[in-house]
Amino acid sequence: MATTTRSALASDVPAVLALWLDSGAEPTHTDDAHSLVRLIEHDPDALVVAEVDGEVVGSVIAAWDGWRGSVYRLVVAPAHRRQGLGRRLVEVAQQRLAGAGALRLQAIVVETDPRATEFWRATGWEQQVARLRFVKG
Ligand SMILES: CC(C)(COP(=O)(O)OP(=O)(O)OC[C@H]1O[C@@H](n2cnc3c(N)ncnc32)[C@H](O)[C@@H]1OP(=O)(O)O)[C@@H](O)C(=O)NCCC(=O)NCCS
Repeated sequence: MATTTRSALASDVPAVLALWLDSGAEPTHTDDAHSLVRLIEHDPDALVVAEVDGEVVGSVIAAWDGWRGSVYRLVVAPAHRRQGLGRRLVEVAQQRLAGAGALRLQAIVVETDPRATEFWRATGWEQQVARLRFVKG
């Protein structure tokens, strides 16, 4: 079955949240319908989904703030892993961000999750040293 990628619609939000829950993605306190619908309203191309036969099996957020491009919520359903879908979703995200004008990209990755860290290393991203991440909220 062919896998397709497209910008998510508000109607995809329940399936995306279910994917995140079922896929062992590190939960965040903005994993909710309100936050995702707000993201899509803010930038209709920011949330990308991968589909097989009408089922959402992957996601990525490609966020452009006018200064830097950020890649968030890269998730592939367990049954579809190690088939190149994560790589493909990141390529789609990179194309979207490049099209918007982003020259610098970042991804926040859970340090203790080897699946994630190995993925980003294998796909040509560099781990940044000499920078700390400070957060609020
Ligand atoms: C990380 C994740 C998105 C990878 O998706 P995927 O579709 O399996 O990735 P790909 O098939 O495109 O893998 C590309 C390469 O990354 C590396 N890689 C991917 N998963 C890996 C794993 N579990 N262990 C080691 N290397 C891995 C491999 O080099 C792989 O190439 P190969 O299969 O030819 O060896 C997926 O495991 C996932 O959804 N994990 C849970 C959520 C998560 O951690 N997301 C990342 C948040 S930053």
